[in-house]
Amino acid sequence: MKINTTTASALAQPTLAVVLLAFEKEQVSGPSGLQGMLRRVTDKEFKGANKQLLLLHTAGKLAAPRVLLVGLGKRQKFNAEILRRAMGLATRKLRRAGLDHAAVQIRADLDGCPTPDAVRILVEAALLASYEFARFKVPDDNATELKSLTLCVPAGTDLRAVRQIVARTQTIVEAANYAREIGNLPGNVVFPSVLADYARQLAREEGLKCTVLNKSALEKQGFGGLLAVGSGSSHEPQLIVLEYRGSPDPGAQPVALVGKALTFDSGGITLKHGDKMDEMKFDKCGGLAVLGALRAAAQLKLPLNILGVIAAAENLPSATSYRPGDVVTSYKGREKRGVTIEVLSTDAEGRIVLGDALAYARERKPQAIIDIATLTGACVIALGSFIAGLLGNNEQLQERIRDAADRTGERVWPLPLADDYRDRIKSDVADIKNTAGREGGTITAAAFLEKYVGDTPWAHIDIAGTAWTTEERHYYAKGATGFGVRLIVETLSNWSTLK
Ligand code: BES
Ligand code: MN
Ligand code: ZN
Repeated sequence: MKINTTTASALAQPTLAVVLLAFEKEQVSGPSGLQGMLRRVTDKEFKGANKQLLLLHTAGKLAAPRVLLVGLGKRQKFNAEILRRAMGLATRKLRRAGLDHAAVQIRADLDGCPTPDAVRILVEAALLASYEFARFKVPDDNATELKSLTLCVPAGTDLRAVRQIVARTQTIVEAANYAREIGNLPGNVVFPSVLADYARQLAREEGLKCTVLNKSALEKQGFGGLLAVGSGSSHEPQLIVLEYRGSPDPGAQPVALVGKALTFDSGGITLKHGDKMDEMKFDKCGGLAVLGALRAAAQLKLPLNILGVIAAAENLPSATSYRPGDVVTSYKGREKRGVTIEVLSTDAEGRIVLGDALAYARERKPQAIIDIATLTGACVIALGSFIAGLLGNNEQLQERIRDAADRTGERVWPLPLADDYRDRIKSDVADIKNTAGREGGTITAAAFLEKYVGDTPWAHIDIAGTAWTTEERHYYAKGATGFGVRLIVETLSNWSTLK
């Protein structure tokens, strides 16, 4: 999508559709030729309710043949997310109507959403809403791609600054859509070595360093967790390591991003129910959030060093699978010995692969670790599919993630990591066990991960509910959402050492 910017009015744009945002019960004004018609529709069918859309023909009264009225709801209830959703709906409406060029008027009176924020949000929404997974199916309606969007900002706005915001936002959302595309690919197409290929290609394109530990390297170096989880599949597990160096101080400690990438999670010997098992192709989305965040960070040339670690495996039942009762030994890194895990459920595999990846990351002495994973069904029960779980050992880091979430609309909510939950993962035969029953499942999973981070500032984002959607939503088509890419990039932008 080509995004243009101008301080001229959207009503003057030679385009196919002019998008006008309207608050509830507001008179929409247009050029004199259209005014009568706009008054009639705003009296009747278009009241500007939140989510309301009305596509009108302009019958030669305007350079553009269509006007799309977009309701923002009550002015007192307005916020950034309402704007993002409105633009998402508008974008999808334009596409369905086959209108591939549009101009949107950015009003100066969007309370709490100054023009630079509005620009960012409209670009986010338009690009997120333009993505759909079309690799294996020709879309059956006459939907078109939105090829160009002209952002018409209030007169007097600094266009240079606006263009920088547009370029930055495009980079970030394209990285999110990149993560969504790979996330949507099924397990027969994307398995661990394919993810490694994606990482290598990204590294080539963006000048990152990429190291992939394949099965024999994992064996030599003692990644007992990742190997155990991957042992049932003919697709061998891979530990994918990406390094981005953007800090002016080349010796600066990196921020580590660690992602769970189960290219398919059947549960293994502790097999899941068949119901919705297909959705477990999305169990790689944490790893993809890491891949996407690194892509955007490199393209934006963020001034810090980033270490990305993606633990990729496929969890299947077979004669070679790991099994309940097994004790596996995690990667030890610089420690004397690796954490030992009593496996009670082969379906609680994410924490096992993350244990190895976190231990590996910690060995590199990062200044902070952020991990992201579709880790627990319990998180979906606790928070549903709109808000991700946030846990960790460092209040300041969590606060930064919460602040970033406020800006990107990828909501997170803190859950308490209390000692009582730490006690629940104690095992009779090993250092820890990999399940502690259903109660507080998201917290006990985080207590497990905590064993691997020591006192490194660490935050854990559980995206089990938010990584994909089974229904169309404002600016998301069905499928992977890319949740975490924008959130992590926002967290890393203007990064400063934690106090
Ligand atoms: N990948 C799943 C978690 C999940 C479930 C994500 C549903 C999204 C939707 C994870 O590997 C898993 O199976 N966790 C188990 C843990 C349990 C056995 C302690 C779960 O949540 O049921
Ligand atoms: Mn599982
Ligand atoms: Zn899983």
